[in-house]
Amino acid sequence: MPADPSNMLKVIEDFPLQCRTALELPKGMTVSGKVDKIVVCGMGGSAVGGDLLKIYMHDSKVPVFVVRDYKVPNFVDENTLVFAVSYSGNTEETSSAFEDAQRKKAKIVAVTSGGQLGVMAKKAIKIPSGLQPRAALGYTFFPVLGVLANSGIVDVKGKEIEEMLDILSKTDEFRAVGERIAKKIGLRTPIIYASEMLNAVAYRWKTQFNENSKAAAFHHSFSEMNHNEIAGYRSMNKSDFAAIFIRDKNDNDRVKKRMDVTKEIISSRVDVEEVFTRGEGLLSRIFSGIYYGDFASYYLALANRVDPTPVTVIENLKKKLK
Ligand code: F6R
Repeated sequence: MPADPSNMLKVIEDFPLQCRTALELPKGMTVSGKVDKIVVCGMGGSAVGGDLLKIYMHDSKVPVFVVRDYKVPNFVDENTLVFAVSYSGNTEETSSAFEDAQRKKAKIVAVTSGGQLGVMAKKAIKIPSGLQPRAALGYTFFPVLGVLANSGIVDVKGKEIEEMLDILSKTDEFRAVGERIAKKIGLRTPIIYASEMLNAVAYRWKTQFNENSKAAAFHHSFSEMNHNEIAGYRSMNKSDFAAIFIRDKNDNDRVKKRMDVTKEIISSRVDVEEVFTRGEGLLSRIFSGIYYGDFASYYLALANRVDPTPVTVIENLKKKLK
């Protein structure tokens, strides 16, 4: 049997193309009326886009909340724009949050390939089916960004998008870094760190190691880890753990310093690998950071001799809950 029978490698390699296609999907879709907060409801691979939106809108006056739960917060009202994102459309938490948002009279846009959510939603962006939800991040993120841009809630510059697509299209460079990191990790448990700003990028690495590589993985952020987790390194060792720092040229100077000093301190306990995001624009930096991890988790799957595509345990659990 081939190591990657469903060809996850091709799906990862095609990610820049997926982003390009996804950018076209929200064409013409807008929301009207006052929007003073945004809520993204979703689970697992479909929720990550919400985390990324939160990073992207960090400097906006409109707050973004990500809800991974059955209900939305009580502040949700008619001035709240809710995105219900479920790749399959059959995730119970997301469907339930969707219904709750409906009760609270929110403006709702669903992003889904179909399923129950596709049936329930009056306003929906239909995305192509047939992928693993976590491999469809382009399809779950860019339609949301597109609706916000079309509605004048965010300003996304064409130049920023082009830079991101151009950087991601250098697939071989991301693949090479991913492969190197997977080799470095070997049989050890990776712990991924980024600044608080890019915490979601570190979290995406963790979940990709979990789902693609079927491996334990953990993440934390700077500088919070300097106030707790670092103390635990006393009991850790190079044969069990490997640390990965995701670094960004726009990291706060004090965060940069903290990362350097932390590396020095923990290097006696674990090997530390560093990965640098690419580009000037925030979208380039977010997605380049993520793209390295997608490849790293793929190569770690091959090294662990597991098929990167299916997540049987998650499917079985969903069946048991039915
Ligand atoms: C599987 C994956 C999962 C799903 C999650 C929710 O590839 O990434 O984390 O995303 O179980 O399912 P959907 O995305 O269909 O709502």
